[in-house]
Amino acid sequence: MPNQEHYDLIVRNATIVDGTRAPRYSGEIGVRGGRIAKLGALGKAGASIEVDASGLIAAPGFIDAHTHDDRLLLSDPDVMPKLSQGVTTVVTGNCGISLAHSPAPHGAITPPLDLLDSDGHWFRFPGFRAYREELEARPAAINAACLAGHTTFRVAAMDRLDRAATPAEIARMREMARESLAAGAIGISTGTAYPPAACATTEEIVEVCQPLGEFGGLYATHMRNEDDRITESMEETFGIGRALGVPVVISHHKCVGTANHGRSPATLALIEKTLRTQPVGLDCYPYIASSTVLRYDRLEQSSRIIITWSKPHPEFSGVDLGEVARRLQMTKADAVEAIKPAGAIYFMLDEQDVRRILQYDHTMIGSDGLPHDARPHPRLWGTFPRVLGHYSRDLKLFPLETAVYKMTGLTAKTFGLRGRGVLQEGAHADITIFDAATVIDAADFEHSTRPACGIATVIVNGEIAWRDGRPTGARAGCVLQRSA
Ligand code: ZN
Ligand code: CU
Repeated sequence: MPNQEHYDLIVRNATIVDGTRAPRYSGEIGVRGGRIAKLGALGKAGASIEVDASGLIAAPGFIDAHTHDDRLLLSDPDVMPKLSQGVTTVVTGNCGISLAHSPAPHGAITPPLDLLDSDGHWFRFPGFRAYREELEARPAAINAACLAGHTTFRVAAMDRLDRAATPAEIARMREMARESLAAGAIGISTGTAYPPAACATTEEIVEVCQPLGEFGGLYATHMRNEDDRITESMEETFGIGRALGVPVVISHHKCVGTANHGRSPATLALIEKTLRTQPVGLDCYPYIASSTVLRYDRLEQSSRIIITWSKPHPEFSGVDLGEVARRLQMTKADAVEAIKPAGAIYFMLDEQDVRRILQYDHTMIGSDGLPHDARPHPRLWGTFPRVLGHYSRDLKLFPLETAVYKMTGLTAKTFGLRGRGVLQEGAHADITIFDAATVIDAADFEHSTRPACGIATVIVNGEIAWRDGRPTGARAGCVLQRSA
């Protein structure tokens, strides 16, 4: 029609929270060619699709700063646990764990790589380019920004993992890092807290991650220690960032174990001080329980442990370790050995620390959800609505604008995802429309895969991916690059 703008899609009558922490305002969003073409009053402009957002918030699609969705994107391209929360981009490959480069065939998949696939079938990508090409050939409903994992490199490059890498092995891993970054990985992650990477020295990590500087990548880490030696681990992380000249991200920042409860004022002060001289980011999930593979060393530190899966004893999924020990008529320590390989949820954090970390200016929201666990930690399905509904609306920990910023604008800025995380003209049209009055997580430790409430419509690259409580089948997800 002449003299009248036409759009692919218009969001009408929205209250816009734009992802920058600016106060909300009323407006309409015109989408064309996968981008936000116009923001403001659109009047008589027409569109192929109109979405009425009366009484609802329109925000940038949420970015999950910390995920293990590398395989989920391929095996379950609706990515339901995330799409149902309004997440439109996931950062994958965290904690040193990524699908590429494929491990050498040493037999069973070493924990914690088994968090992605315990059978090993999905560890079939010779390099990051191969992974990326498959994801682009069979896109998911949401976008991915991918880290490559140092632990995966180690398993692929070394015949045994209980030692530091030799110069030849370091050279091979550095080649893997280079291949990954050249093919579009946004950075490298480490997980020195886990046995397969625990013997990696700081020097090994710096040597392997050398290409980060050249490619403008970033360094994310599940630090060597998050309990008694957390400060030393933070210093190691900052030192690695300085040696490489790259930004660092401290993954799932927390103070583990009763003896370390209440240390978050000190750890946050250390981050604040370090930020004056180098870029540091961090993410956090909104729960006092953590989750990973079943580990003997977590026994003492946890007030309660729930088994999430067990290969030899699948019947124990969802059962407390105390009950498992009773049924097997053995000590908890022996029960841990008897049911491994397995996964668990550990109640070992302090609510006040969690709140303080969530509240901190530079903290992004990341779920750390484990999508292949039989009875996963509820963070997989609940993280984002829980921050919006429980922590922001009900507990008033911070305003809605700040909550949205921590899951959009801040995250895009930290990871260098240009044109994402903000509602601005020219930005990519990733939009989440939700009801601020009712949004809330529904997954809990008893019903851990219940979809959240209050997420109305989710738009990914201009296409509606979630509506009326279900996925539409749209597969508009892209693999995102980092612009340093
Ligand atoms: Zn981790
Ligand atoms: Cu993780």
